[in-house]
Amino acid sequence: MDLKEAKFVMSNTDWRKCPKPVLPEYAFIGRSNVGKSSLINMLCQRKSLAKVSSTPGKTQLINHFLINDNWYLADLPGYGYAKVSKVKRTKFHNFTLDYLRNRENLMCTFVLVDSRIKPQTIDLEFFEFCGTKKIPFVIVFTKFDKLKKTEKEKNIALYQEKLLESWNALPPMFFTSAVKGTGRDEILDFIAETNTL
Ligand code: GTP
Ligand code: MG
Repeated sequence: MDLKEAKFVMSNTDWRKCPKPVLPEYAFIGRSNVGKSSLINMLCQRKSLAKVSSTPGKTQLINHFLINDNWYLADLPGYGYAKVSKVKRTKFHNFTLDYLRNRENLMCTFVLVDSRIKPQTIDLEFFEFCGTKKIPFVIVFTKFDKLKKTEKEKNIALYQEKLLESWNALPPMFFTSAVKGTGRDEILDFIAETNTL
């Protein structure tokens, strides 16, 4: 797919106030700082369409973008970040879970995981949540440019092993670098193939 145009539409915390569900939608979620906003900018080939920050917890709202005037992309707040104060813990925003449970035009959720670290309980819990609620998802390994080949293979194998403990089959997986543009064609082709409502 050729991604020609990306327009910011709106931000909010309530799935009922999101754009009318008349177009197919793809959401991006993952732990804080995993690289969701960076990946979105890479896919859209825009420097700062989605806000990127080295401080975890930058994206705090559901942000909708309209792509090529025919599908929506949603950048979701990150989960699992414990602030230094230890008081305010951003585990899962309830409004994000409500969005995922109720958004009728959601075709697929891209769950991002950092390819540098081994499977995290919170990510495995999130896959479990998707499975229980029948929310279709795929896994996106981020920051691939930061790893050596052997390290990548090791972490991916660990994920596959963990997933196969509770699933019969593995979901589609994508390997990306927002810095190098790795994985862009594969993700856009996947969206083009599933983009029907
Ligand atoms: P929140 O909105 O805070 O949940 O974070 P996010 O998941 O949207 O992450 P964001 O895109 O803001 O990126 C977090 C940090 O990781 C930034 O410093 C990015 O520059 C860096 N980063 C993201 N993707 C990549 C990548 O593919 N390679 C490298 N080297 N750095 C990346
Ligand atoms: Mg973000």
